[in-house]
Amino acid sequence: MTQKNCYILGIESSCDDTAAAVINNGEILSNVVATQAIHEQYGGVVPELASRAHQQNIVPVVHQALRTANIDKNQLSAIAFTRGPGLMGSLLVGTSFSKSLAMGLGIPLIDVNHMQAHILAHFIKAEEQTAPNFPFLAMTISGGHTQIVKVTDYFEMEIIGQTIDDAVGEAFDKSAKILGLPYPGGPLVDKYAQQGNPKAFKFPKPKVNPLDFSFSGLKTSVLYFVEKEVAKNSDFIAENIEDICASLQFTIVDYLMDKLKNAVKKTGIKEIAIGGGVSANSGIRTALKEAETKYGWTTHIPKFEFCTDNAAMIAIVGELKFKDGSFAESDVVASARMKF
Ligand code: KG4
Ligand code: ZN
Repeated sequence: MTQKNCYILGIESSCDDTAAAVINNGEILSNVVATQAIHEQYGGVVPELASRAHQQNIVPVVHQALRTANIDKNQLSAIAFTRGPGLMGSLLVGTSFSKSLAMGLGIPLIDVNHMQAHILAHFIKAEEQTAPNFPFLAMTISGGHTQIVKVTDYFEMEIIGQTIDDAVGEAFDKSAKILGLPYPGGPLVDKYAQQGNPKAFKFPKPKVNPLDFSFSGLKTSVLYFVEKEVAKNSDFIAENIEDICASLQFTIVDYLMDKLKNAVKKTGIKEIAIGGGVSANSGIRTALKEAETKYGWTTHIPKFEFCTDNAAMIAIVGELKFKDGSFAESDVVASARMKF
């Protein structure tokens, strides 16, 4: 089979987004995501509800992905799916569906590691993004993950730093909740931050190993700070929301940049690629751009639709593995704690 007529369907269901995408020769022909609104009222993802919503969404999402790509399921060359890491109930839906469909169509099945996929999303051919050169440092920052990975080849990756508690997206979302903002609060903190003074208030940067992250103390310090101020002035949050958000965002971005600087120092690698939902943040984007001139780094941020959880990133990994003939066995199982 030539690359030209190789169509791979990617399926992602590791957390609360049910997604399907079709890739052909590095180009994404469709990228469909059904985001589950049900979790908003609980202020976070409820695993059992996520699993049920995946069951409802997966067939229509896959249909839509095939329709948008303008291909028939019989034209598919392989099916790539997220095997892990993630929520077991959610992973099971995508895994079982993918296994059945591949078996029914008589085509290969390809298992994908969700964290590798966040990184390899940089290799999707798209106008707004550039592929990093090996070796590079990948920082994945989202509601579920915070890690720095040294990438020497497509599938040669080593985690050199990670969070020891909350993910950075949780730090945004949990702090936002304390400020009375709806879930997920990260984008709203970013919005208010752009109007505020980042030096108005000071929040402590958690101290851990130079390459690791910790965020649970930050939300506690936001909580104590807000409680103390609200006791003095009940309108404190409303009157200072921009400055609070700007100061919080400044602390988080500075902390992420500190860790990247430590990683560059340790490895000597100045090629930086970020991914995950938090890479939408205007503060981190500005800081990375500044680092290009300040420290001589080359930085890469994927198109936003390939940053958040999506199936296009699963499809690109599927394509890379398909070229190598690296297929899953038919008895492959979901793995909630899958390692690289
Ligand atoms: O990658 P993602 O869609 O899902 C996973 O968690 O895997 O990331 C969602 C996270 C949420 O915590 C959300 O608040 C955060 O990304 N986020 C942001 C921004 N946009 C999304 N955080 C800060 N600033 C933003 N602009
Ligand atoms: Zn993710």
